Amino acid sequence: MRHLLTLEDIDRASLIRLLDRAEGFRTTGAARDLLAGRTVLTLFFEPSTRTRTSFVLAAKRLGADTLNFDLSHSSTSKGESLLDTLHTLEAMRLDALVVRHDENGMPAWLAAHANTGVAVINAGDGTHAHPTQGLLDALTILQRRPDLERLRVVICGDIRHSRVARSDAQALHALGVQDIRLCAPRAMQPDALDEFPGCSAVEGFDTALAGADVVIMLRIQKERMAETQFPDAAQYHAHYGLDARRLALAGPDCQVLHPGPINRGIEIAPEVADGPQSRILDQVANGVAVRMAVLAELLAPPP
Ligand code: NCD
Repeated sequence: MRHLLTLEDIDRASLIRLLDRAEGFRTTGAARDLLAGRTVLTLFFEPSTRTRTSFVLAAKRLGADTLNFDLSHSSTSKGESLLDTLHTLEAMRLDALVVRHDENGMPAWLAAHANTGVAVINAGDGTHAHPTQGLLDALTILQRRPDLERLRVVICGDIRHSRVARSDAQALHALGVQDIRLCAPRAMQPDALDEFPGCSAVEGFDTALAGADVVIMLRIQKERMAETQFPDAAQYHAHYGLDARRLALAGPDCQVLHPGPINRGIEIAPEVADGPQSRILDQVANGVAVRMAVLAELLAPPP
């Protein structure tokens, strides 16, 4: 692997290798010799709390030097093109560039235009992909349920605009999950299911939840829709919000995931977000381990 841009065509063996490595880092903690002397730069054109922080922590725990490129104080705000920015940063001898952008395909474009051997990692591009989130969600689910072939998984919310839903579906499908149900109000359903291998669409949330082992809730991506498309929050919660009554329709130990940031009282009730079935903070912890595994895989591949 040279870059990590999407999970679209990743095979099961590569996924398992990354997840095993992540689980190893989660249990052993730091490995500060592994990337000593290497440099990882984060370049975020969209806001982030978890993703950016966990990439920086992951790089530091592997001993790399890290730098957050501050866009508001950079020359991109003076009109410098992204290509010039890329080549300028590359001239400083970077090993990895972690990119988030609101345009689909921008990390791939940067990877294609890089002059050096810099590894590009997609930290979320538009509605297209969020591969490390797909990996960390898979790891979180696997920790409790290794019998992936038997799992019933529901992904609910703004699927149309969700890069997380796409990467989650691709990872879970590649790992052998047979039953992935996508549930969304009409305006938030994807146009087609091509990017959602092995998934089926189920309209009512109560129906979708029947017997579910995992439910992944999604935030409404307000920033990716026109204001007129944004639904009434109370109405949305009544139909697509996960509260304790609804969660009781799922299987007895159903795990609840959410990539964050959560909007309490809209897609998820506080009683569920903070309840015993919530894996939300485990996802955050796993995020650091997964990003360590990805950085290690790209910059220090095993012999
Ligand atoms: C997600 C993202 O940015 O795509 N958040 C994250 O990375 N943890 C989901 C979201 O913003 O709703």
